Amino acid sequence: MANTQTHWNQIFDQKPEQELGWYETDVSQTMACLTPVEINQYTTVFVPGAGTSHLVDELVRRGCHLILNDISDSALAKLNSRLGHGNHEFLHHDMATPLKTSYDVDVWIDRAVLHFLLTNAEIETYFDNVRRSVVSGGYVLLAEFSTTGAEKCASLPVHRYSIEDMQSRLGNGFTLIHSEDYIFINPFGQQRPYLYALFQRD
Ligand SMILES: C[S@@+](CC[C@H](N)C(=O)[O-])C[C@H]1O[C@@H](n2cnc3c(N)ncnc32)[C@H](O)[C@@H]1O
Repeated sequence: MANTQTHWNQIFDQKPEQELGWYETDVSQTMACLTPVEINQYTTVFVPGAGTSHLVDELVRRGCHLILNDISDSALAKLNSRLGHGNHEFLHHDMATPLKTSYDVDVWIDRAVLHFLLTNAEIETYFDNVRRSVVSGGYVLLAEFSTTGAEKCASLPVHRYSIEDMQSRLGNGFTLIHSEDYIFINPFGQQRPYLYALFQRD
């Protein structure tokens, strides 16, 4: 975790959020993908790499219980000072390793975290975490660089995803509900093709 954590901490310590390649204030496209999902005060949402994302503020407005994880404690500190107290808890964990606590997660929302895991072992551990956490009837939204997307993000190589890759790694117990290609325009005006896919657990 040390090297990866240092890398991400340097980014969050050194750059204003407006200069992060994934900076987005209008999260309506992500929320539209979550239309079939009820998110309210009874919902537990797990965000495996929250960063300083403004999606979190929208989820806070829905009143759900949020578990906000990140490998970067600098990102979590910034998010903590922005959000203050509320129905959320912070977790500092490398998602390439097994979660130490069991969670009953209704909705798992990953935007641009999974694609940083490169080895089969890391990716398998991530999906084991999903399967151990998401309850029956729960949802998983994966938003990762698509097969036509960039090969790097934040100076790191990424594993780009197709629907087939996501589905086979999740396993048969998850049904694809919705998917869409989305071209995110980053703060530098560059196109970043993403694949968004919403799955429901049987
Ligand atoms: C491209 S940013 C996306 C942040 C946020 N999801 C968003 O949409 O703005 C990737 C995030 O994943 C975190 N991250 C990278 N590798 C991770 C890992 N192995 N475990 C947990 N978080 C990780 C980074 O610190 C960073 O906050």
